[in-house]
Amino acid sequence: MKNKTVKDSESEVNRLVLPEDTNIFGALYGGRLVEWMDNLASITAFKHARKKVVTGSIDNLFFLSPINLGYIVTIHTFVTYVTRATMEVEINVQTENVETGEKKITTKAYFTYVAIDENGKAAEIPGLLLQTPEEEKRFMEGYTRSRNRLDSLKIMKETLL
Ligand SMILES: CC(C)(COP(=O)(O)OP(=O)(O)OC[C@H]1O[C@@H](n2cnc3c(N)ncnc32)[C@H](O)[C@@H]1OP(=O)(O)O)[C@@H](O)C(=O)NCCC(=O)NCCS
Repeated sequence: MKNKTVKDSESEVNRLVLPEDTNIFGALYGGRLVEWMDNLASITAFKHARKKVVTGSIDNLFFLSPINLGYIVTIHTFVTYVTRATMEVEINVQTENVETGEKKITTKAYFTYVAIDENGKAAEIPGLLLQTPEEEKRFMEGYTRSRNRLDSLKIMKETLL
């Protein structure tokens, strides 16, 4: 299986916050933003794996500033780390106030996707071809996050299953 570059699956989308996306205070629902993030990050995972993928985990997610009706939301996603069957995708969310042009980072998060076969079992995916020192650094950091994630998953499985 041929390795893929980060650029092969990097994705970006702009969304305009409409009335149906907001709560009674005129701010974007957190759940709606997570849906948009998961949607774009899964596109990145699909493009890397070229197989079915499911969301395996979402790391800590903090919303740093409210996103109001009429703001532009820009979501940018790319693969940072892969294992035999999983992809860690970094998601950056920036907002823009259309009236003032002011831009703010709202959140940065890591979602992990697992590629699956026709039986729902984890399936092998291409490796990640690292092309820049920044990509290498992110991969190393992804390895550490992955170890922590798997420790948490093990504890959760022991507790719940
Ligand atoms: C994710 C899923 C396919 C894993 O199945 P599984 O039989 O537990 O898989 P395994 O234990 O054989 O692990 C397979 C790989 O997935 C990784 N993995 C398993 N569960 C994971 C999770 N929840 N998060 C991140 N990685 C996970 C393992 O580390 C392993 O990686 P590797 O092979 O690259 O080293 C299965 O748990 C599932 O279908 N979950 C529901 C997914 C879903 O529906 N998501 C939408 C929201 S509900």
